[in-house]
Amino acid sequence: MPIDKSSLYFAALESAIHLDPLMVAPETPVAEVLALMSQLRSSCPISDLLPTSEAPPKIRSSCVLIVECLPPGATTKTTSSNQSPVLLGIFTERDIVRLTAAGQNLKNLTVGEVMTRRAITITKSHNQDIFTALSLFRHHKIRHLPVLGQGGEILGVITPTSIRRALQPANLISQLRYVKDVMSTQVIHTPTTTSVLDLARLMAEHRVSCVVICENASHQGKTLPKPVGIVTERDIVQFQALDLDLEKMQAQQVMSAPLFCLSPDDFLWLAHQEMQRLRVRRLVVAGNRGELLGIVSQTSLLQALEPTEMYGMIETLQRAVEDGTKELQESNTRLSEEIWERRKAEVALKTAHDELQKKVEERTAELQKANALLQEDIKRREQVEAALRRSEAHLRKQTEQLEKALNSLKQTQSQLIQSEKMSSLGSLVAGIAHEINNPVNFIYGNISHASQYIRDILKLVKLYKKYYPEPVDIIGEQIDDMDLDFMVSDLPKLLESMQVGSERIRQIVLSLRNFSRLDEAEMKWVDVHEGLESTLFILQHRLEVETDGEPITVVKEYGNLPPVECYPGALNQVFMNILTNAIEALERQGTLRENSPSTAPRCITITTQLVPDRSEPEKQWVEISIADNGPGMTKTVLRKIFEPFFTTKPVGKGTGLGLSICHQIIAEKHGGQLECVSQPNQGCEFILRIPVRQVKGTG
Ligand SMILES: Nc1ncnc2c1ncn2[C@@H]1O[C@H](COP(=O)(O)OP(=O)(O)O)[C@@H](O)[C@H]1O
Ligand SMILES: [Mg+2]
Repeated sequence: MPIDKSSLYFAALESAIHLDPLMVAPETPVAEVLALMSQLRSSCPISDLLPTSEAPPKIRSSCVLIVECLPPGATTKTTSSNQSPVLLGIFTERDIVRLTAAGQNLKNLTVGEVMTRRAITITKSHNQDIFTALSLFRHHKIRHLPVLGQGGEILGVITPTSIRRALQPANLISQLRYVKDVMSTQVIHTPTTTSVLDLARLMAEHRVSCVVICENASHQGKTLPKPVGIVTERDIVQFQALDLDLEKMQAQQVMSAPLFCLSPDDFLWLAHQEMQRLRVRRLVVAGNRGELLGIVSQTSLLQALEPTEMYGMIETLQRAVEDGTKELQESNTRLSEEIWERRKAEVALKTAHDELQKKVEERTAELQKANALLQEDIKRREQVEAALRRSEAHLRKQTEQLEKALNSLKQTQSQLIQSEKMSSLGSLVAGIAHEINNPVNFIYGNISHASQYIRDILKLVKLYKKYYPEPVDIIGEQIDDMDLDFMVSDLPKLLESMQVGSERIRQIVLSLRNFSRLDEAEMKWVDVHEGLESTLFILQHRLEVETDGEPITVVKEYGNLPPVECYPGALNQVFMNILTNAIEALERQGTLRENSPSTAPRCITITTQLVPDRSEPEKQWVEISIADNGPGMTKTVLRKIFEPFFTTKPVGKGTGLGLSICHQIIAEKHGGQLECVSQPNQGCEFILRIPVRQVKGTG
């Protein structure tokens, strides 16, 4: 791609023009011009061309243009006047230094008298570029170049500073060039004591814009000038503007110090940056030992911009640009291909994606269907399970009920058997009692009469013996045969024992009747002791055991009991069962004891007492304890004794019903308690408690 060089550099020239130069009429006094030049002004109004970060710095004008067509003393901007001013001459800092060096009194002069006429100018056109300006500077050793339009009108001024500024960012100043390449070694330096007037003279004489102030330093026997400050043309302008006595002032009083010194090996880029930072137009270059080596100014910076070199660089750049463009085009083609490939892939992807999505949707629908089916199945199963659970619970309940019913049936059965037994025993006993009662009553009722008769007859026999001592033989024989004396002595005894026996039979009958109490199926107030006694009476024959030799003693510790409200027949049945069990246990122990002779005599202890209720003191209980010193029982047996049909006795002997019936009679019929305390070889005690007065509704 070809580059339009002219337009590139024309733009550069345009951007280097300082558009707002100071302009004065030729009649303006030099003093006034000095004051104007000392004022700080905005250096470059074309801020559009600057990077936005860099505000235009305020600097002092280093020159004024002397123009015609203006009222004396007035200044104006080129653009604000319709009538274009005509350039007559230029007045720069250098002129002030020159006048100062010549000892001219500036107060009485006008600028028209001291200005440089026929100033070197440049006309803005397509052919002029920034290098034209640079070569003019170099050729004429000037630092100000007024720019005129095609019609001779003043456009502005170009200075090395404005060019340098226009070229920034100064990429064109190769970063690989050093300070030593461009620095000027023709430096004017003076000691610190030099007068300012002499300094101005030196500047004018050597046509330099500054003088470096040095101190002498010695190194290895040599004297080396060491820069400590600098005085420039601008300083002279300032002193003149302030109207100071330049002859009396010494360099050390007015110089700019301390100095920032560059090293010859520093990059030009650093010099450029430091000038910008310190806002100065030149920098001193010093060696390792601080000795003065040279000076770098804006003009010398611009030397780096040799037009020939610049063009070479531009060509290189252009080549680089062309290469880059080619590369870019290639990569562009590659990219387009890639984009095409990607588009193709994208389309393929989209198709695949759509297909996948379709598949996913289908699968999702299938899954949802399966899920719904599963859920339905689960629901059904749950229902079945619940139904099963319900029916199981129902079955369990039924089983329980059945078990209960069976138990109660068993109990009823045993109760029936027992009560049948009891009732048949009762009726038997009652029948016997009734049958015996009459004959016994005959005997019992007549026996007293019989004794009386016999006593009378014996009395008569005694009298016969007394009054007829010699009986006839046959009577005598009879007396001997029958042993009359013995009979007489024995007969009263015999009668007496008959009396006792009949009395005993009467008692038995009474007990039998009392025990059976068949007629008493209702609650009655009875004497518990009476029931116990009649039961013991019936069991008498088992207590006075013949075979074992030793009888069973019954110890009675009866308390003082009131009549108790109860079913007497049922209660007697309880006593009967418990006492029978005790006797049987003791009998069993007897058989055991035949092998090991015992120490304690076999006995049954019956204790009765009245006990108050713990929670209701006014309610009273009768407590009957029946204890034996038999073999007792194990824990396992003890746990089961109240269960129906539980027995440890051999078949045919025990039914296992006795205690279960007892428990039922005491607990259910009488609202009482029946418990057993026993340990193996420690005997056994049954304690039964029933309330003295039955609570309504019990039984
Ligand atoms: N006084 C006691 N001493 C030891 N064991 C006893 C006593 N009373 C009852 N038992 C035990 O209790 C069991 C159940 O008694 P029971 O219900 O009257 O039925 P059965 O007398 O027909 O065996 C008896 O087989 C016996 O093992
Ligand atoms: Mg029994």
